Amino acid sequence: MKNVFLLISFLILSVSSVAQAAGGPAIELEKANNNLRDQDSLQRGAVLFSNYCMACHSVKYMRYNRIARDVGWSDDEVVAKMAYNQAKVVDDVQTRMLPGVAMDILGTEPPDLSLMARLKGPDYIYTFLRAYHLDENGNWDNSALKGTSMPNVLEGMQRHYAPEDYEQAARDITNFLEYAGEPGKLERFDLGWKVIAFLLVLLLLTYLLKREYWRDIKH
Ligand code: HEC
Repeated sequence: MKNVFLLISFLILSVSSVAQAAGGPAIELEKANNNLRDQDSLQRGAVLFSNYCMACHSVKYMRYNRIARDVGWSDDEVVAKMAYNQAKVVDDVQTRMLPGVAMDILGTEPPDLSLMARLKGPDYIYTFLRAYHLDENGNWDNSALKGTSMPNVLEGMQRHYAPEDYEQAARDITNFLEYAGEPGKLERFDLGWKVIAFLLVLLLLTYLLKREYWRDIKH
């Protein structure tokens, strides 16, 4: 019996230490406070994403025409604003980086960001974008992903924008990436309320029916 206890506690301990080793980022995450219902923010985020991120990253599970429909643009607007008219509306959102170049200059492939917000959460992306700082040797480092090979792409903004505008830009990009991670999220939320309302009505009806059935029976 004692052995069994020992074995169980050993298993629990090892599982929790593995979970810790797999660990999240080294720093506490800031709340992104982004809002998927804010279409202006999504539009700004899409344009910022195109200007600041698509040089290296794709969101290849999104098509331009789907983005247009969801953020409130026409088909022409989306390719003008996000692809400088160099893509068709039915294309998926590919990076402008030519294959192999990233390996040469950055030493790694920038990941596709379609599901990054699902994987790491919007708060992580918001924190990561703003976690660049100069280390003691005067090189950029990121406290959310130490030693990252991604440069501080928002450096110009960080230097020249008012802090709240820089924060808002990071929030808009995060908003766009959360949207891209699950374009149907709002529909799912809205449907959820309808389903719960339907179930409540059904509950009421079944309760009334039950009362009706048992009315004449003494119990
Ligand atoms: C110059 C190329 C380049 C640009 C531009 C760029 N990135 Fe990256 N990004 C990378 C590389 C390379 C990695 C992989 C970093 C690593 O593993 O160290 C990366 C990784 C990431 C990650 C994953 C971080 C993690 O924890 O694994 C996110 C999120 C990200 N980038 C977001 C963005 C956003 C948002 C923008 C635009 C504001 C952007 N990147 C612009 C090169 C770039």
